[in-house]
Amino acid sequence: MAETKQQDAIALLKEDHKTVEELFTKFENASGDGRKEKIARQICLELTVHAQIEEEIFYPACEGKIEEDLLKEAYVEHDGAKILIGEIESGSESSDDFYDAKVKVLQEQIEHHVEEEEMRMEGMFAQARKAGIDMDALGEQLAARKAELTELYTTQGLPKPKLTTMEPSF
Ligand SMILES: [Fe+2]
Ligand SMILES: [Fe+2]
Repeated sequence: MAETKQQDAIALLKEDHKTVEELFTKFENASGDGRKEKIARQICLELTVHAQIEEEIFYPACEGKIEEDLLKEAYVEHDGAKILIGEIESGSESSDDFYDAKVKVLQEQIEHHVEEEEMRMEGMFAQARKAGIDMDALGEQLAARKAELTELYTTQGLPKPKLTTMEPSF
């Protein structure tokens, strides 16, 4: 596996956001079921790993140091995305008339969520930076876990989404 470059936590997470944004654009421009599905699967992989490293490492480090509401909403937003990711991951263009719509809505949800994280001044990252969290140390942990999970999910496939904030009873 390629050596992971040293990035602070925020740089790493922002780069992930950019990667996914580019993949969504690629999806929009792609034609043919096979190509679209391949890109959609890549989106699901990237987002699953990203959400998991945020929830395992970055968000807990923010606990008590940033606005509580913002953090709670972030977890709920992740869960909303995970539901769509599960749908997209287990579906296909040919079997699901709503496949493209699901990818589109996921994109819109992620754009909103990324905005909440990256927003200048009041965003989660800005608040975390202001709180003096050690971003270099966190960056190392995030990179290591990201490499591990990417390898795991690339070889074994994505696990069923695990929701953090809800247990649907319907
Ligand atoms: Fe993020
Ligand atoms: Fe997030």
